Amino acid sequence: MARSDEQPSGDLAARLSATRALTLDLAAPLSDADATIQPHPDASPAKWHLAHTTWFFETFILRDHVAGYRLHDERWPYLFNSYYEGEGERHARPRRGMLSRPSLDEIREWRRAVDEALAAALPGLPPEAVGLVELGIQHEQQHQELFLTDLLASLAENPLEPAYGELDPAPCFAVEPLSWIDGRQGLVDIGAAAAGFAFDCERPRHKALLHPHRIASRCVTNGEWAEFVADGGYDNPSLWLSEGWDWVRREAIRGPLYWGEDETAFTLAGRRPIDRAAPVDHISYYEADAYARWAGARLPTETEWEDAFSSADPAIGHQLDRAGPVLPRPGGGPFGDAWQWTVSAYLPYPGFRPEEGTVGEYNGKFMCGQFVLKGASCATPRGHSRASYRNFFQPASRWQFTGVRLAQDG
Ligand SMILES: [Fe+2]
Repeated sequence: MARSDEQPSGDLAARLSATRALTLDLAAPLSDADATIQPHPDASPAKWHLAHTTWFFETFILRDHVAGYRLHDERWPYLFNSYYEGEGERHARPRRGMLSRPSLDEIREWRRAVDEALAAALPGLPPEAVGLVELGIQHEQQHQELFLTDLLASLAENPLEPAYGELDPAPCFAVEPLSWIDGRQGLVDIGAAAAGFAFDCERPRHKALLHPHRIASRCVTNGEWAEFVADGGYDNPSLWLSEGWDWVRREAIRGPLYWGEDETAFTLAGRRPIDRAAPVDHISYYEADAYARWAGARLPTETEWEDAFSSADPAIGHQLDRAGPVLPRPGGGPFGDAWQWTVSAYLPYPGFRPEEGTVGEYNGKFMCGQFVLKGASCATPRGHSRASYRNFFQPASRWQFTGVRLAQDG
């Protein structure tokens, strides 16, 4: 998170206000019913995202750092605490979709009240609380991405296939030929520098060893994935990790999550023809790994990825700029379109220290059974990512915008 010497500034207030406004804009087209349903236990209702991000600010800043602050509703923290044991008992995650009350309008009113209290408190906050405001902004940006991926999962449950909004038709784009970038070898530094915002799991910056390797110049496309499917990629156990093959058979997996018949896929803009030049998305770690084996390659390590793209501008690429549907597009860079699976387990860096206090539960306690993804996606708010960023998901997860960039031994 932000260093504790950071002082409240106009920039922080402006970013807080813009971030809070974007979340409301994302929810603007939704009915209370749209915002209440939960498609599966990993995905949360849109209304819950609006409320939980507000709970985060109310709890860790207003309650803890503003004298005399009274909770908007003392019953609601039980509903909208996600996983913070330090904050006590909470509503079961798989039952978040059962909360028809409080209503979407009541949640909006809570947001307005908390925003007002935050704006009033900001100039007088102690430095440690200013760092928590920054963390709250970054947290809300993460939930904006989850809002979109969870909403896509909800809409996909409806046989009428409703669209969240409209997108321009895919521009005609020739697929950029894939080339291989020779990576550096030897000891390199990875992880976030001491200054500036980063999550605790990105620190400390440390040495890592790179063996001879090369990394693909772009992500695997839908067209290339279609060749994998046509070549029997999902029928050939020799391509799959044992766990992955069990998963493919148990879940009857035949392609990326939202692919359907006739070379179409369900998207936030409804069912559309698959753009063969765009990066493939909604694939699991297992699928990424099997594809890489089929293609005579492998997944990059997180060190290889970070070192290759540490000088690329993380603010360039197809990322979230305004409320509305998003979709991976052709021609993007390392940041944007689809998060890229790495072969690296999500583990603590040497010398890792979780943040102090209850927010120390933010990242560290999830360092088991998950893999690191690098880059950003079309649903990542622009400005949120950086080369040291470590997204992480379990290997069977694929409701996020997850894709693959290949690597090879050198
Ligand atoms: Fe959260």
